[in-house]
Amino acid sequence: MQSFAQYADWAYLIGAVLFILTLRGLSGPKTAIMGNRYGMTGMALAVLTTFFVAPSPVLGLIVGAMVAGGAIGIYRAKTVAMTHMPETVAMMHSAVGLSAVCIAVAAVLHTGIHHDGVHRFELFIGCFVGAITFTASVFAYGKLAAKKWAKTIKGGWVKPVQAGLFLAMLGFGVGYFTTENLTDFYLMTAFALAFGYVWIAPIGGGDMPVVVSLLNSFSGWAAAGIGFTLNNPMLIIAGSLVGSSGAILSYVMCRAMNRSLLNVLFGGFGATAAVEEEGDKKEKNYRSGSAEDAAFLMSNADSVVIVPGYGLAQARAQNAVKELATVLKEKGVTVRYAIHPVAGRMPGHMNVLLAEADVPYDDVKEMDEINSDFASTDVVLVIGANDVVNPAAKDNPASPIYGMPIIEAHRARTVMVIKRSMATGYAGLDNDLFYLDKTMMVFGDAKKVLEDMVKGVTGGGH
Ligand code: TAP
Repeated sequence: MQSFAQYADWAYLIGAVLFILTLRGLSGPKTAIMGNRYGMTGMALAVLTTFFVAPSPVLGLIVGAMVAGGAIGIYRAKTVAMTHMPETVAMMHSAVGLSAVCIAVAAVLHTGIHHDGVHRFELFIGCFVGAITFTASVFAYGKLAAKKWAKTIKGGWVKPVQAGLFLAMLGFGVGYFTTENLTDFYLMTAFALAFGYVWIAPIGGGDMPVVVSLLNSFSGWAAAGIGFTLNNPMLIIAGSLVGSSGAILSYVMCRAMNRSLLNVLFGGFGATAAVEEEGDKKEKNYRSGSAEDAAFLMSNADSVVIVPGYGLAQARAQNAVKELATVLKEKGVTVRYAIHPVAGRMPGHMNVLLAEADVPYDDVKEMDEINSDFASTDVVLVIGANDVVNPAAKDNPASPIYGMPIIEAHRARTVMVIKRSMATGYAGLDNDLFYLDKTMMVFGDAKKVLEDMVKGVTGGGH
């Protein structure tokens, strides 16, 4: 063990490089599997190195934690449905937050390091960020898993209570930092736990993905803070990578929705949008057709672009859409998919669904890559997408989503939209795309409609 310890820093350095390669790999679907492998190798190296450098009395505890953690991880990975991924991720962040709190408490109780001012500062930051991450992530998990106890809170009292808890947390934290008083440390932790819950509980379910990504970032910073306390370079590097990539992802998601992070965290967007729409409701005409009509038009087109949205996930229609693309290709039609960065309810939602159905990566195009092609596209098939194809974002300065980048489906020659009704999407806004002369609404559950379209294209014999 002792001889291995001298190589520990090298092993941590290699682990850190593997984590950087992981993030690089995860930036594209083709390299994502390799990225995951780098991540697994880096993590195995980090855990094993820590095992070999740890003092002998705690080895039993480490083995116990590795076996328990590994068993829960394998069980969860094998059983979780793709649709339950967002809440699973939120739950994992809560574990990181709780670990940061436990490590900080253990460091305060069992080591002398908190007599040093710099260490006290790290403990102060690592512990309160960890505590906020823990309770906020537990709430985000409950909200995403539609648990009864995760109720959105509202009312004039919320903001003053948030401010009060935050100030109390900071006050006791500063008290601990200046006086080493352990009661202050525990009170800071208790207020941080309460603040985490009250901070996130007013945010609506639809904004939870941004919150989860932000909590991901927080969990990274908490880990990095504790890495300083434990003098563990691997934890500092891995925590910083998670912290910064989570922050960048939150920023990218907010930009794709044309909103600021502050608006997501303290806004309540769905409500405002719905109110702005009230009174603007006029009777407008739209055209609807059957799956068979749509199949006929698509079979005779040269090019079809499919725009999936939240409804595709809701209907679990990913295999049906792949089937439709396959039969259309057999008829000589060029079929591609256009992906909006915030289509669905979590980052990469559509990419994950299409990958699950084995859709070829080369057919899947990002919004910026495909937007210029719509003018020469015969048919756009919008499946359960609404806000991400709303032209108001481009041409109606009064719209709450004005300025949000969209998939420019309205520029294609013919537009077909599969959804169950004329209901609004996440932002609560009506969509002019549905009322264009060139648009045909095909009403029904996406999976059923797509299966009928396949029958329509193949003459029922596929
Ligand atoms: P939405 O605008 O939410 O529209 C989804 C549409 O799917 C609805 O209009 C609904 O209409 C339809 N639908 C639901 N279930 C269906 C089913 N079983 N079969 C057929 N259609 C069904 O979705 P979008 O266009 O993907 O936009 C995503 C929205 O979520 C954006 O506003 C975005 O800002 C927001 N958001 C996204 C994220 C991320 S990271 N993706 C994070 C936070 C917020 P019917 O009820 O009429 O069927």
